[in-house]
Amino acid sequence: MDSIRITGKQSLYGEVEIQGSKNAALPILAASVLIKGEVVLHNCPRIQDTRLMLQLLRRLGARITIEGHTVSIQNEERGAIELPKKDVQGMRSSIVLLGAMLGRYGEAVIYYPGGCVIGERPIDLHLMALQQLGASITIQDDCIIATAKQLTGTHIHFPIVSVGATQNAILAAVLAKGTTVLSNASREPEVEALCDFLRSAGAIIKGVGTRTLTITGNSLHPVVYSIPPERIVAGTYLLAAAGAGGDICLTNAPIQELNALLHVLSLMDCFVRVKEQRIYIKTDRALRGGIDVTTQAYPGFPTDLQPQLTTVLTKADADSYLKETVFEQRFAYLGELEKMGANITKQEHGITIHPIAQLKGTVVEATDLRAGAALVIAGIMAEGESLVKKVSFIERGYEDIIGDFQKLGVTLFKE
Ligand code: UD1
Repeated sequence: MDSIRITGKQSLYGEVEIQGSKNAALPILAASVLIKGEVVLHNCPRIQDTRLMLQLLRRLGARITIEGHTVSIQNEERGAIELPKKDVQGMRSSIVLLGAMLGRYGEAVIYYPGGCVIGERPIDLHLMALQQLGASITIQDDCIIATAKQLTGTHIHFPIVSVGATQNAILAAVLAKGTTVLSNASREPEVEALCDFLRSAGAIIKGVGTRTLTITGNSLHPVVYSIPPERIVAGTYLLAAAGAGGDICLTNAPIQELNALLHVLSLMDCFVRVKEQRIYIKTDRALRGGIDVTTQAYPGFPTDLQPQLTTVLTKADADSYLKETVFEQRFAYLGELEKMGANITKQEHGITIHPIAQLKGTVVEATDLRAGAALVIAGIMAEGESLVKKVSFIERGYEDIIGDFQKLGVTLFKE
């Protein structure tokens, strides 16, 4: 049962509610390590990556209860400080536990993380930030041994914007002695969510939503928090509607966070309307091509929507260009799209997508989480039937992609 069978050439109609954000939930779950007493998280997505993070938290001594989308975590007791290699390597964001464990326990043993195969994903900036805060770090093969008697506030400048490194630095700084300034920090909504969560628990963080964060060490208290909605899942469904045609509404959608995508959709001649927390998209004609998009750190166009946009642009009426600046190797899925008839030319840093009359259904394989979602969109757009294999990649981040598309009228099922 690791494939999705999709009947192609279907349009999307109806309404679907957007799940909680994976990339916000993961660092917030890690942040619970810093808090003695109960942390209650509502709207926590039920996906593979959050299950894995909860497993790691249990290993660290947390007592966890789950009811629907509400997770309650008690971090009073201290468990192991060494996390099992197999679990850590199942997910890249396990690395944010390093900052949290150093912050709470002053020691951590963790392994180089795994995650999506979307090119080189070093952690040098994570380690640099933690070392500047006073951690001493030894690497033995792929094992990271970190200790810190007392983390102390300092000024950390990131040479490039990194979401994970910014989160790790925040997690290590909130309980540190004195004030930490992070410059050229990520201002991704998921960093903002982590700061909001920590501030609700008593942390002193200034500059949230900007590239400079100032964090003054302070003790934290129990907290109840609601995970914000997931912008990449919402973006995936908007792009599916753009590619397949139809008329859909997303409820509980993070509108502000999708501005870069909404702009591109309007350039493509899709009719998009927003109201309160709802986004409506309607497409009943050919998509306009000639689109030129570059992926960038927020508020730029998200790299996590790049494969889905490429898929949709195969049906536009002119060549479009997509440049990838965040993960330059993030094109492993192109071979799969080409099996379905896509005509794409690769350049040094990007691709040109040439229009084709129609994608054709066939058997394809997800190469990573977002590429997998892109192939599901391709299957919905294509003529004939498609089988998308390795759905486990998609389940890392989409709570119920099959159920959501079924709600929008698509015939697809797991097999
Ligand atoms: C996060 C997201 C991921 C998204 C990415 C970029 C999570 C769980 N994942 O990943 O979905 O695609 O942001 O928006 O939130 N880099 C270094 N050294 C480091 C760290 C990063 O050189 O120590 C480089 C990376 O190779 C990449 C760039 O910085 O080229 C951005 O990566 P980063 O923002 O760190 O991505 P993640 O936090 O891993």
